[in-house]
Amino acid sequence: MFANLKPQPADKILQLIGQFKADPRADKIDLGVGVYKDATGLTPVMRAVKAAEKQLWETEKTKAYTGLAGEPEYNAAMAELVLAGTVGADRIASVATPGGTGACRQAFELVRLANPGAAVWVSDPTWPNHLTILNYLGMQMRPYRYFDAETRGVDFAAMMEDLAGVQAGDVVLLHGCCHNPTGANLTLPEWQAVAELLERTGAIPMIDIAYQGFGDGLDADAAGVRLIAGRLPEVLIAASCSKNFGIYRERTGALIALSDPARREVTQGTLAFLNRQNYSFPPDHGARLVTMILSDPALRADWQAELEEVRLGMLALREQLAQELRALSGSDRFGFIAQHRGMFSRLGASPEQVERLRTEHGIYMVGDSRLNIAGLNTKTVPILARAILAVGI
Ligand code: LMR
Repeated sequence: MFANLKPQPADKILQLIGQFKADPRADKIDLGVGVYKDATGLTPVMRAVKAAEKQLWETEKTKAYTGLAGEPEYNAAMAELVLAGTVGADRIASVATPGGTGACRQAFELVRLANPGAAVWVSDPTWPNHLTILNYLGMQMRPYRYFDAETRGVDFAAMMEDLAGVQAGDVVLLHGCCHNPTGANLTLPEWQAVAELLERTGAIPMIDIAYQGFGDGLDADAAGVRLIAGRLPEVLIAASCSKNFGIYRERTGALIALSDPARREVTQGTLAFLNRQNYSFPPDHGARLVTMILSDPALRADWQAELEEVRLGMLALREQLAQELRALSGSDRFGFIAQHRGMFSRLGASPEQVERLRTEHGIYMVGDSRLNIAGLNTKTVPILARAILAVGI
């Protein structure tokens, strides 16, 4: 049987981890995978997470199974974090999932179960794993234009033109904030216009929010999701705690499905069923830490303070890089780096230029020229700026 297996294409983002490790150059710079790093290159365990782990170690009495949907307290805490009371509990079905990827996968499976013919509309570009999972599940995909290669901002007119083609029951996948891979985001009036289009067409929004707190702040980053949730009858939200709690390997996420109160129970039951079919009980450790942090005022305040330090640190690096490039190039053409939000920016370089950055300068980024701002520090910013100009970007 195994003789029938064919090699699978390597994941372009994860592949970079191995390549970077194997590079013997001491001054190499890793701007690849979307993992936050501090100025020393460490992905730290956040203070509140450490404190919660200590408390948990002292008080946890059992590792017996939890609920198929995860703990109700976790689901409630996540709904509060993302939605902040903008919709009533009678509309919210929710399950814990293994990370944000697990939430996306379960959301796609829910769509396939409810409406097998639905097309899922994805931004061009989007996180490559969206595409591969949809493809793996045999689901229909339609791209909508999103990124303007000239301005490196959102081409909103083109996006709306494409989305005018959605059918009732189709799903439109949006990034809640910190668009991956471009860093270019919708403004609130643009979210408003998208909500109106979805209302008019009967298409269903699915919002992937994996970086809440990394862009403009915890509430500002969820403003688009909250606007959509308050207006549209059915909404899917895939949330991740990997980045904003720094618990990548714990696999902590949530899938939230908003529906009419009359459909909540069957939706909730279906989400639990999908968990059972795919992995049974969702991982608990990270979810428990998140619940403890969000429900304890002191832990929550410390977590928010540290998250804010992380966010402001990335913003300062953006400013520094944009300024450095302005000074070196004598032009404002890299101003978009300071406008983008979150971990990523798409530079708009060719694959050859990205390759030259790697081979000639030891700088690693994804082939589409997505760079992880958090991989920089104040000393490496000028090195990157010089390299960007040296390869002719
Ligand atoms: C990324 O986009 O780099 C992260 O979301 C990590 C991943 O799983 O791809």
